[in-house]
Amino acid sequence: MSSTWLAFAWAASALVVAASTAHAPHHPSSLQVGFYKHSCPQAEDIVRNAVRRGLARDPGIGAGLIRMHFHDCFVRGCDASILINSTPGNLAEKDSVANNPSMRGFDVIDDAKAVLEAHCPRTVSCADIVAFAARDSACSAGGLEYEVPSGRRDGRVSRQDEVLDNNVPTPTDDVAELIESFKRKGLSADDMVTLSGAHTVGRSHCSSFTQRLYNFSGQLGRTDPSVDPAYAGHLKARCPWPSSDDQMDPTVVPQDPVTPATFDNQYFKNVLAHKVLFVSDNTLLDNPWTAGIVQFNAAVEKAWQVRFVKAMVKMGKVQVLTGDEGEIREKCFVVNPHY
Ligand code: HEM
Ligand SMILES: *[C@@H]1O[C@H](CO)[C@@H](O)[C@H](O)[C@H]1NC(C)=O
Repeated sequence: MSSTWLAFAWAASALVVAASTAHAPHHPSSLQVGFYKHSCPQAEDIVRNAVRRGLARDPGIGAGLIRMHFHDCFVRGCDASILINSTPGNLAEKDSVANNPSMRGFDVIDDAKAVLEAHCPRTVSCADIVAFAARDSACSAGGLEYEVPSGRRDGRVSRQDEVLDNNVPTPTDDVAELIESFKRKGLSADDMVTLSGAHTVGRSHCSSFTQRLYNFSGQLGRTDPSVDPAYAGHLKARCPWPSSDDQMDPTVVPQDPVTPATFDNQYFKNVLAHKVLFVSDNTLLDNPWTAGIVQFNAAVEKAWQVRFVKAMVKMGKVQVLTGDEGEIREKCFVVNPHY
């Protein structure tokens, strides 16, 4: 009798354990490569084709998509909160000065989502689309191919003021601030330096760095002495003061003046040559540890490529929603209606 009771108690507690395990909050490690293998086998191909169409329309869109994943992950985790439109009661991340007007590639995400909804309705999250699209963009520009763990869910909240409130770093940050900023997301100083290598493609609006050319440390007429003088002259010619201090000035320059569209390690050579746009780029030399990583990444292209991929996968796991958290948005620019 007592042994029966014990057996029953053991079985019951095992069931309780099994049930509580099944309902335990999902850990970021529950992202998995090939998450849509059965539910939507074409998912990653559909995204790749949308990126391809986007690149055909505008070759610069790939850089935008790489940056989009970064800005998404750094605010409320990689939950596609960056894609949500502002509504009458709520200014969204999209409309932060860190994203508007500079962020690009939203149309590629919407294109991919429309095709995905036609093939596998309410299955593939917008957050995963952004992660896949960032990978496809880097690869199509010369980066290494890599597998993206997926299974992210979409958030339902997006607030403009959260973007620059201790989340997305700014181009005037110094190395200590950058290290701290990435640390808040569980990323190391090495990840920070290695990921900054994404500034090997794409562009910047003049307004993101004109203070450095014309008003360095609040002194009008002063140029940051750490910019290579010839490069500073070149930038001043492209970005005259003060008109280009205007956020809405559409004038842009390439991040990497040497190989502007190739996903290579040229960025690190540019940092060493002091031919980079932002204080946040040049400052990587201000700390012996980060400067060493710059030197290493500049010297060994292949090693940086491998390290970049690892750091992107790590960034893609920041504070993700999984399991039954969040939702699968039907349209990436608006949260699902409550039914
Ligand atoms: C370390 C801190 C970082 C700062 C302060 C920073 C800042 C900026 C700024 C100010 C721009 C120019 C925006 C414009 O005016 O058009 C930019 C562009 C860009 N950033 Fe970063 N960034 C950082 C890290 C990263 C990371 C980690 C990635 C991706 C892994 C990234 C990818 C890009 C790309 C690809 C562009 C070009 C975008 C385009 O052409 O549309 N950045 N970044
Ligand atoms: C120059 O920089 C200082 C300090 O950042 C700032 O307060 C001032 O508004 C800037 N001047 C102009 C004309 O942008």
